Amino acid sequence: MLTTPDVLRRTGGKPVKSIVYDAETIAARVRELGGDITRAYPDGDLLILGLLKGSFIFLSDLVRTIERPVQVDFLVASSYGDRKVSSGTIRLLYDPETRLEGKHILLVEDIIDTGKTLQRLMALLAGRRPGSLAICALLDKQLAAAPRPELRFVGFKAPAAFLVGYGLDHAENYRHLPFIADLE
Ligand code: IMP
Ligand code: MG
Repeated sequence: MLTTPDVLRRTGGKPVKSIVYDAETIAARVRELGGDITRAYPDGDLLILGLLKGSFIFLSDLVRTIERPVQVDFLVASSYGDRKVSSGTIRLLYDPETRLEGKHILLVEDIIDTGKTLQRLMALLAGRRPGSLAICALLDKQLAAAPRPELRFVGFKAPAAFLVGYGLDHAENYRHLPFIADLE
């Protein structure tokens, strides 16, 4: 258990098991991803679509490392009904204002667990006839069963732990942590 004053001040006294990625490690990897993305899209319109809420910190750091024109919009997706009894449908609570047709769409997600959310979202977005459609995920737990969404850009291959911080929450807490921790 990590009980340093810096961590406890931020969590309200709750210890975390360990820091898995510290702020410097994340920043260095985000810069690399930004370079990869810049090189991967030499031309065309690029629309970065952040999946709320988990991607908000990652997305805001990432777009500042991309050295070509981009547009930024967001998506809020929700599965119908009880998440444990997956209905196979997805509903958009917020639909991007921006037109998707003909543009390169890069969907930005915090973490891939089962990959089900993204799998459905990709099918829905493909129907909007974008020029191309790809995923950038900060973390991949590599637990997703087939059919697995194809991840074009991945920050880290994450351990199969419950991670919080840098946008990731547990019951809406811990999103503000500047590092990613194993809550345990
Ligand atoms: P999936 O559809 O099972 O891949 O679910 C992915 C979503 O579950 C992510 O966007 C997160 O909101 C949430 N999630 C999955 N694993 C974690 C975790 O370790 N910490 C926090 N949220 C998680
Ligand atoms: Mg969440």
